Amino acid sequence: MTDPRDRTATTDGPDLPLPPGSKGLPFIGESFAFLRDPEFSRRRHDRYGPVFSTRLFGMETVFLKGAEANRFVFGQDSETLGVQWPKSTETLLGPASLSTQHDPQHRQRRRLLSQAFQPRMLALYGRGMDDLTRSYGDRWLGLGTFAWYPELRNYTLDIACRLLVGLEDGAATPLGHWFEIWTQGLFSLPINLPWTTFGRALRARKMLLAELGTLIAARRGEGLGDSAIAADALGVLLAAVDEVGNPLSDGEIADQILTLLFAGHETLTSAIASFCLLTAQHPAVLERLRAEQDGFDPEAPLTMEDLRSMTYLDQVLQEVLRFLPPVGGGFRQALKDLDYGGFRIPKGSALLYQINRTHEDPALYADPGTFDPDRWGGDRANPNQYLPFGGGVRECLGKEFARLEMRIFAARMVQRYVWEVVPDQDLSLVMVPTPRPRDGLRVRLGVRSRDRVLV
Ligand code: HEM
Repeated sequence: MTDPRDRTATTDGPDLPLPPGSKGLPFIGESFAFLRDPEFSRRRHDRYGPVFSTRLFGMETVFLKGAEANRFVFGQDSETLGVQWPKSTETLLGPASLSTQHDPQHRQRRRLLSQAFQPRMLALYGRGMDDLTRSYGDRWLGLGTFAWYPELRNYTLDIACRLLVGLEDGAATPLGHWFEIWTQGLFSLPINLPWTTFGRALRARKMLLAELGTLIAARRGEGLGDSAIAADALGVLLAAVDEVGNPLSDGEIADQILTLLFAGHETLTSAIASFCLLTAQHPAVLERLRAEQDGFDPEAPLTMEDLRSMTYLDQVLQEVLRFLPPVGGGFRQALKDLDYGGFRIPKGSALLYQINRTHEDPALYADPGTFDPDRWGGDRANPNQYLPFGGGVRECLGKEFARLEMRIFAARMVQRYVWEVVPDQDLSLVMVPTPRPRDGLRVRLGVRSRDRVLV
């Protein structure tokens, strides 16, 4: 078989076969199986090979698997591959979300939004993250035995609200309430009725836009001095001008903020919940983490240098994101007929590159089903083989923010606390929209003493 790298991206070769697969029911296709069955794509790849097609959420969708597929997707220009999310995601994120924008607007907005993730902003965010980690830690200690996942959702939402838009206690506000309902509809059938998940999420979007509108108006009222602009992502957006010099509309700012809150909350909750679960299940890893963290004072401020020197912690977090990547893959749209892996992918099809299937490929990782932070001791990861944050022109904009929050959370938890997973609960994972333990990860948390463990 020809190496897919040797093929051109586009083709006028109609004689190539279409990718194999089954389309399922009209319109709905195989959406229910995709949402409910964690083995959905694994099973179909076993049957059809590295490329198969199906119908999801009303879209003809081609699944691609493997490092070569990732290289193929990330290497295309914006005239060949556009973005295409399922209808529910696209509608709920809104027309002015970075995730749904196309070039040249996407490129311009990305450049603009990236100002909110510059190193000087990250240093500022780090302090806020550390403060909230302390206050949530105290709260969890008071709870003793509790379901950690819902608590972690509040923790990451509070961090995102405080650091990105300057809103305190976001999870307890109406914004937090509507946000939860809105999130549930992101990957749903786009049927707008009062009782459907999508219908409820659409109403929640209206309420969220109203809440964000109030927040935006209040910030405009305070004026836009240099310190306000430098404070957070909302400040950056309020001060920004588009390609012809006009300020961004309140509608666009609201969509962009909603995207950042979603992207920075759902994924991070999954990642840190996986860290808590996997370290509880691997005591030898936790012991080594503790030995490294014993070199730091749990009460002293954490500096960027401290964080950079925690090399074993980094290996563990890298492995958490390989083993249970929060985002399974990314959708694109073929803007031309494409030729990949011996198949013709017709113009207009949706494409899904897959992070999870890549990370479990035995051709790339020895014993991929084993959680082993030691695999990350040496070289830098190859970006087509290790891609928790995606790649190409739509690579995660908040990846340094995410890494920072994961490091601070993990370091402080290991320095200050001990936890164990409570028996008799279902630890199997719900996979959509991001992996989470079915019973909410019930744990018992206690104070860590350097010479004795108090659970
Ligand atoms: C562990 C945490 C995170 C993971 C695993 C993650 C993963 C990803 C992935 C895989 C993509 C690419 C999707 C695609 O190919 O279409 C993405 C995009 C994005 N992420 Fe993240 N993300 C995380 C945290 C964050 C945070 C904290 C923020 C912001 C505060 C953020 C903001 C974004 C944005 C705005 C995009 C869209 C970029 C674009 O379309 O140009 N993410 N993320």
